[in-house]
Amino acid sequence: MSDETKTTDLDIEAGRLLFARPFVFVKGCVKIADLPPADRLEIAFAGRSNVGKSSLINALVGMTSLARTSNTPGRTQELNIFEAADAPLRVVDMPGYGFAQAPKEKVAQWTRLIHSYLTGRPNLRRVYVLVDARHAAKANDLTVMNELDRAAVSYQIVLTKADKLLRRELDKSIAATRAAIKKRPAAHPELIVTSSQTKFGMETLRAEIAALLTRG
Ligand code: GTP
Ligand code: MG
Repeated sequence: MSDETKTTDLDIEAGRLLFARPFVFVKGCVKIADLPPADRLEIAFAGRSNVGKSSLINALVGMTSLARTSNTPGRTQELNIFEAADAPLRVVDMPGYGFAQAPKEKVAQWTRLIHSYLTGRPNLRRVYVLVDARHAAKANDLTVMNELDRAAVSYQIVLTKADKLLRRELDKSIAATRAAIKKRPAAHPELIVTSSQTKFGMETLRAEIAALLTRG
């Protein structure tokens, strides 16, 4: 299986070293004013509820329970901040969108928080927009991509739960997602295909993030 993204051996090694550090939970933010100062490069993981954002962060840092995960949607309810000592990087786990069962006021609060963070954070270098490989991008994913395009915030699609598909189904999903991002100005043209369960794609994802740090 290829990873759909070109990265160099140097990036792969830099990515391995970057995420060999122990990452720690710094804080959970319910409003923009709670965020730490914009003093280092940030990457954020966004996507529908239950798509696997928190699981992907755990797989990325090689820890089993740094970010809290759950079978039920709506687990992550704040902007959760993770950092490692001496790494010039901050990782942000976001509440999911599209969770219709939560109380209306909660949904409205999360939607506002997600929107203002994604479009107004000066040090947000890249958003990883997670899409379940089985379901392709849905209307609310497209809304978020539209916002990111409009705000000129760089983003890349990460297909999740690749372990749940047969190869030919995965190929179809990759093709459909590529077509959906083709004309989007702020979208990275390549996808990253992942499974937090098998750890497929982690080397590539780490390398991509390391490249953001070294190449700006
Ligand atoms: P919210 O915080 O509620 O928005 O969800 P989330 O996007 O953070 O999802 P989370 O990581 O909590 O995972 C949701 C469910 O999907 C859990 O039951 C995970 O075990 C499962 N899951 C996540 N990633 C994978 C994967 O790569 N493969 C499989 N098979 N299951 C996964
Ligand atoms: Mg979560």
